[in-house]
Amino acid sequence: MTQHLAERLYNIGNAYRQAKVLLSAVELDLFSILAKGPLDTAALAVRLGIHRRAARDFFDALVALGLLNRLCDGRYQNSEATDLYLDKAKPTYLGSSFDQYNSREYDMWGSLTQALQTGRPRTEINGQDHFESIYRDPMRCRSFVNAMTAGNMLSACRIAQRFPWQQYRTLCDVGTAQGCLPVQVALAHPHIEAIGFDLPELGSAFSQYASANGLSGRLTFRAGDFFKDHLPGADVIVFGRVLHNWDLATKRMLLAKAHQALPEGGSVIVYDMLIDDERSSSTNGLLSSLNMLLWTSAGFGYTAADCAGWMREAGFDGMRVEQLAGGNSMVVAKK
Ligand SMILES: C[S@@+](CC[C@H](N)C(=O)[O-])C[C@H]1O[C@@H](n2cnc3c(N)ncnc32)[C@H](O)[C@@H]1O
Repeated sequence: MTQHLAERLYNIGNAYRQAKVLLSAVELDLFSILAKGPLDTAALAVRLGIHRRAARDFFDALVALGLLNRLCDGRYQNSEATDLYLDKAKPTYLGSSFDQYNSREYDMWGSLTQALQTGRPRTEINGQDHFESIYRDPMRCRSFVNAMTAGNMLSACRIAQRFPWQQYRTLCDVGTAQGCLPVQVALAHPHIEAIGFDLPELGSAFSQYASANGLSGRLTFRAGDFFKDHLPGADVIVFGRVLHNWDLATKRMLLAKAHQALPEGGSVIVYDMLIDDERSSSTNGLLSSLNMLLWTSAGFGYTAADCAGWMREAGFDGMRVEQLAGGNSMVVAKK
């Protein structure tokens, strides 16, 4: 009778196996290869450079996970989702997020027990903030911004569609990385002019991405450090997946700076993978907060109610919460 309880424990305890099968498939670029046409076991194994002992189980595990289909003649084909989102040749490619999970986070989560015991991240190098160490290495910087864009895309599109942009003219995205959010908003709303605010190291990635999207005329990069500088003025100020990186004092300081920079009637949008207000059902929000334990020196996730409270302290009102995509939600408020 209680067997299903044990099964649930096993399923959680070995979920890393499923994750790693998908991450290795992305690392080997299997889905881009199959996007060009179905292949049989031997041909696919040769294309991927994997051992014949491993091939059949690996491909069939992907079938069992619903990530590949097996045709009547035995050839493998992408599922609808992997074909759309994990084929590098398509503009909808989201694999950069999975590269980040595979190359950085998978190992970091291996040291969760130590982080729980010490309260300290593994990435912290001599107390330096983790962005500094990422941006010092151009390859890591590039793969980080690609991962940010991939991980942000669904939420950015949703904000572009759902927020009443027709009531506003200008936008400042604070901690913009490559500018995924301002690009999606500007593409959907030709009247919007946008600033991407971030550390100077991200200027060229931002400009290249804006130009690749034909938006150089309406998108401007503003280099700055939100610990030292005022935020640029705009009708709407956005913090996308930024507040979770920092301690409570910084979260409050950033909202206060946004309040200062906005005109009367201006709006602030905060979005992150939020924890549910009861802190009991949002597995993704809670795991994302533990991810901050592993990545940052003092960052933590929060609920919509927490965020609304900090916004109220900063002088905002009219707070409302809306679900976005990929587990993210936004809290919107007005000055
Ligand atoms: C987790 S990323 C989020 C990027 C993007 N908003 C998204 O959702 O994909 C946090 C961003 O904050 C930026 N950031 C970190 N410290 C900063 C600082 N002191 N001043 C300005 N931006 C900063 C980082 O460079 C990075 O682009």
